Amino acid sequence: FKYDASNPNLDPEPIHGMGNYHDIWDDEHVRMACSPLHLTNDRTPRWPIIQSALAELKQKCDEKIATVNDIKIAIDKSNGTNFEIGSLQQVLNQDYSDDQRAYFMSFTLPKMVSFALEVGNICSQPPPLLNIKTNRTVTMSQRQAASLLACGFFCIFPHQFNRKIDNKYHSYQSFNFNHLFRRGSACQPEKLKCILHYFKRVSEDMPKGVFSFRRFSLPDEWIPKWKESQAPLCKIHIRTDRSIEEMHGLLQVDFANEYIGGGVMREGITQEEIRFTVCPEMLISILVCEVMLSHECILLIGCEQFTTYSGYADTFKFKDNFIDTTPKESWGRKLCHVVAMDAIEFKDPATQYTFENMRRELIKAYTCFRIPKSMEKCMFGVATGNWGCGAFNGDLQLKAIIQLMAASEVGRPLVYITWHDQTLLESFWIVYDYLANQQATVKDLCIYLQLYSMNHKQSGLFDYILNVPVSSLREAYK
Ligand code: APR
Repeated sequence: FKYDASNPNLDPEPIHGMGNYHDIWDDEHVRMACSPLHLTNDRTPRWPIIQSALAELKQKCDEKIATVNDIKIAIDKSNGTNFEIGSLQQVLNQDYSDDQRAYFMSFTLPKMVSFALEVGNICSQPPPLLNIKTNRTVTMSQRQAASLLACGFFCIFPHQFNRKIDNKYHSYQSFNFNHLFRRGSACQPEKLKCILHYFKRVSEDMPKGVFSFRRFSLPDEWIPKWKESQAPLCKIHIRTDRSIEEMHGLLQVDFANEYIGGGVMREGITQEEIRFTVCPEMLISILVCEVMLSHECILLIGCEQFTTYSGYADTFKFKDNFIDTTPKESWGRKLCHVVAMDAIEFKDPATQYTFENMRRELIKAYTCFRIPKSMEKCMFGVATGNWGCGAFNGDLQLKAIIQLMAASEVGRPLVYITWHDQTLLESFWIVYDYLANQQATVKDLCIYLQLYSMNHKQSGLFDYILNVPVSSLREAYK
């Protein structure tokens, strides 16, 4: 693992390869399962216990006598706990055919045990953390990722650090899979099928690429002066019929939680969780990324997709194997750039119309769209859509205008996916066309937002804009 702390504009340096494990146990690195400082409650080292529990499981797999209950025994012995694993049992004992189960128990599972047991050799030092306010990139091989994910599967990561920042404790989400294994919502077994399919694929043929996570903090002096900006509207392409992940060659937006990954390790299954489930290497961002602040984002570069899915939320289902043919850059990363962009969760939707909240969302979108130029050889377009308007209760029209402003300020074209919402497609196009015909600028849109924050009860934002010509707006705000 390597990060470029000194110069955030450099491409990442080559990663650490295999070697003797060098432990680091501080608040700048992931606490590893194999660390000598990972202790039981009576303060004996936990790694030898884990090694023996997993070796027993592997032995049974090799003898072809392992059962699903043996996975539970190994996890419980490793942790000194008694986890309920109803969803995992459902997948392996009920949903899988006899052949699928036999293949998993005798081929995939022992490989997963080896991935976990080899973590200290494959990851010769703990991955650095992408803490708040750092501009760091962590790069790792897909082989390293498989080891870390296997450790998550066997629930052997110790608790990570909880840091106190600005008088608030910011924790890392748990990367252990025990919540996902529990009996719960119908999506959990489906998510597990995707992840088990990932392990099947990598244990049959380990991919040789690398991927990176980059944290980007927008410096204060880069925050645009919205009320003075003469930037023209960017070009836009609006469509209903495709998903963001199908928009190859664009910067794809992850409708994120401030804790990246959101509920993927629990019951959540909307846009972010689905993306992380079909591209399981993205899950590792949960392990290395601290909570995002309002002027921060995390870029996920080069993660591979392994499965397809059908449905959404309650109807989500694992569908099939997916061969990701995205080309690679010279560094070995797939040319797939995803940016985690967390909206405000509006428990009371009325609060989104304060100008302060609008400004926060503008800065967040601007931060995500304005990635340091060195990262991208050219400013390709952004694929986004109903950001913050599902689980987080945002107003579709307001979020559309905010993202239009941010993309225009950065100077990138937008591909806007309305996700089967034909009405939004048509109404957004009418407003965009109306504004573009009058050569509206980001400053004009900022004034609309300011006025709308006081008049939002009268009408929707699009109608509000259509009723106030840009020329009269400019006249009033000379
Ligand atoms: N492509 C394009 N648009 C999509 C896709 C997709 N693959 N999936 C969903 N959408 C649209 C839908 O219209 C959805 O209602 O985006 C909307 C918002 O999606 P959400 O995931 O609900 O996003 P948000 O409201 O920002 O909530 C974020 O949910 O997934 C968790 O961890 C995430 O806690 C965070 C919260």
